[in-house]
Amino acid sequence: MAIDPAGGPQRDTWGSKTAFVLAAAGSAIGLGNIWGFPTVAAQNGGAAFLVIYLLAVALIGAPVMLAELVVGRHTQRNPVGAFKAIMPGSAWWLVGALGVLTGLMILSFYSVIAGWTLAYILKTATGVFGPDADTGAIFTNLAGDPLQALFWHFLFMVITIAVVVKGVRDGIERWTKVLMPLLFVLLLLLAARAVTLSGGGEGLSFYLNPDFSEVDGRVVLAAVGQAFFSLSLGMGAMITYGSYISKNQDLESSAGWVTGFDTLIAILAGLIIFPTLFHAGLDPNQSGPGMVFVVLTSLLSTIPPAPYGGIVFGTGFFMLLAIAALTSSVSLLEVVTSWGVDEKGWTRKKAAWLIGGAAFVIGIPSALANGAVSWLSAGWPQGPDFLSFMFVVWGQYSLVVGALLISVFVAWVWGVKAAGEEVGADGTGFTTEKLWRFLIRYVCPIAILGVLWTLIEPLF
Ligand code: PHE
Repeated sequence: MAIDPAGGPQRDTWGSKTAFVLAAAGSAIGLGNIWGFPTVAAQNGGAAFLVIYLLAVALIGAPVMLAELVVGRHTQRNPVGAFKAIMPGSAWWLVGALGVLTGLMILSFYSVIAGWTLAYILKTATGVFGPDADTGAIFTNLAGDPLQALFWHFLFMVITIAVVVKGVRDGIERWTKVLMPLLFVLLLLLAARAVTLSGGGEGLSFYLNPDFSEVDGRVVLAAVGQAFFSLSLGMGAMITYGSYISKNQDLESSAGWVTGFDTLIAILAGLIIFPTLFHAGLDPNQSGPGMVFVVLTSLLSTIPPAPYGGIVFGTGFFMLLAIAALTSSVSLLEVVTSWGVDEKGWTRKKAAWLIGGAAFVIGIPSALANGAVSWLSAGWPQGPDFLSFMFVVWGQYSLVVGALLISVFVAWVWGVKAAGEEVGADGTGFTTEKLWRFLIRYVCPIAILGVLWTLIEPLF
């Protein structure tokens, strides 16, 4: 469906509140929950990280989610246009521009990981993961082969572009309705299998028994960054999605549902990964971008009746994961595309192909960074490989900075009063207004600044 470039009254809107909640949940739920959360939790000590993560979601994530949605619905614009509409003539549009750039960069490496999930659909369906399978070697053979890595990255990007070209309602809404609940059920079943594995208890205790002695600024930043990444915050995705919400939908409860769903899925993913990781005798400290793939597939051969249990569950799981990734990558591309359409006057089709094409090219080094090209695969300042480096810079730091600026903008520049009126405009009131005001004005900016400071301080 076409979008009115002026963002006027004909702007495409979601069919219903449930459709919007599902689509926003579709953006939030993705690789960030099932790939990102366990990976970052493993690298940052497990249970202590989980506690800090949950605090970050409740105290910072949820209020910023509402702030972004409210800016979007109020202005009915892409992130750049939204800041321009509220503060014309100021430099605040640069925050939107940073978001658009961040969206492009995240999409570039996101598509690489999502490409692996496509490849894994084929592998699981053909019964590659029997009891004797070397799941580590299977991952290395895929990600380390430049042709395969690039092919799956390319394929996933083309699918993302095709969905975005079709427009918001036709493209995005349809997928999430049935498939997200299905993903949830499958995760529950996999978690039930994982926690009953031998050695699983050790994994559970790593995941659920916090030891705060190793927590430092880095761990807190990783938790806050991961919360933003997982909730699709800090770069304007929720501003863009909010811009398609009609005036009579309840923003407050929408924000709550999306935040809740997303967090539940991440917690469940941890319940699958950590018991399996310890069962398989792997070391959480060594986890890189491939960890989740290696660990998940070693769970498959333990599902009875062999080999069919593993084939059915594995294929179903990777299909759903690919679709969850697609509803997220679509939202990333949608942010940049809506900027191209609104601000540059491109047609939707042109914007999606140009920008998706650029994201593919920018993603090439990430695709080659897991064994294919050795200097990209090791020695980067922020991690063992270029993909992890991109994830930390754009998926964590940039989102944290973006969310800081968005919360300052809404709380202090646009003002909590005007924002609160927009939240209440749907006639359902704004029950948590006092709490939200407090969180967005003080807790969010101070907590985020504090975390950034602990990283910068040692430099002085
Ligand atoms: N939240 C998505 C995920 O968890 C990733 C994403 C980040 C999407 C930022 C949009 C914006 O997979």
